[in-house]
Amino acid sequence: MSASNFAVFGHPVAHSLSPRIHAAFARQLGIAMQYTAIDATPEAFVARLDEFNAAGGKGANITLPHKHSVLAQCAEISDFARRAGAVNTLTRRLDNHWRGDNTDGAGLVRDISKRLGMDLRERRGLLLGAGGAGHAVAFALLDAGVAQLTIVNRTPARAIALADAIGEPDRVHTRDWNDLGRFGNFDLIVNATAAGHSRESLHLPFSLIAPRALCYDLSYGLAASAFVNWARAARIGYAQDGLGMLIEQAAESFAIWHGKRPNTDSVYAELRAELPLDASD
Ligand code: ATR
Repeated sequence: MSASNFAVFGHPVAHSLSPRIHAAFARQLGIAMQYTAIDATPEAFVARLDEFNAAGGKGANITLPHKHSVLAQCAEISDFARRAGAVNTLTRRLDNHWRGDNTDGAGLVRDISKRLGMDLRERRGLLLGAGGAGHAVAFALLDAGVAQLTIVNRTPARAIALADAIGEPDRVHTRDWNDLGRFGNFDLIVNATAAGHSRESLHLPFSLIAPRALCYDLSYGLAASAFVNWARAARIGYAQDGLGMLIEQAAESFAIWHGKRPNTDSVYAELRAELPLDASD
């Protein structure tokens, strides 16, 4: 088979670190595979996926903007992916259909609990953003045992819709973004907005950060710098970007496909050296 048997689909996708991460995992575990990046516009996505399947594609990661639309291509969907409304991992089953999983939530929880060594249970969480990424994060944090989760979104209706979908009114609340300065503080703050990608500031008050809080941005590199720098400037908590989550979600996908979970430490160290946490303009 000359075609690649694993791939990441996105648009744009040229910047994706996934081919590098999966190649490193495969080397570590002595698994022969090819993994490439396939750029597919929303209009061309189904055709590209069909071509990949016809060429013997066995598994794929799905990134923006296809994480939701790909659900329609899956004959089988994991419970978590269905709840999150997003698939980031496709696996071709024996009868030639796609199974959809979502490893983003597990990647985040694993990065926080294993690599950072922080216990998520009983934390009072604030989730900024109720878009596609926010959905997966909300379910993952609740599954991991956070005591409370307050969801805030620039467009309030999306936060309310997410809270309604979760259906746990005792643990999950929504508040208005304009009231952020009057919320009290949180010991876990997750930025799941896309603001950093367009270099927009969130104008967050320091009063949100409880002593020893973890402030975590799902993005990495320059897109995470405004939030990470805000959290650092408060000097009372921990600031982290989403590089570890990216690597851990890749490891979860790799384990689904190959039945072995790679050790992520060396890949993390290599990429962290290129993308320091204090990256700024
Ligand atoms: P993703 O899959 O990355 O979550 P998305 O579904 O388009 O992408 O969601 C983007 C999220 O970032 C949304 O929560 C969006 O808020 P709106 O629902 O109000 O659009 C949020 N977002 C983007 N730019 C923002 C900004 N400048 N300030 C606050 N939130 C922002």
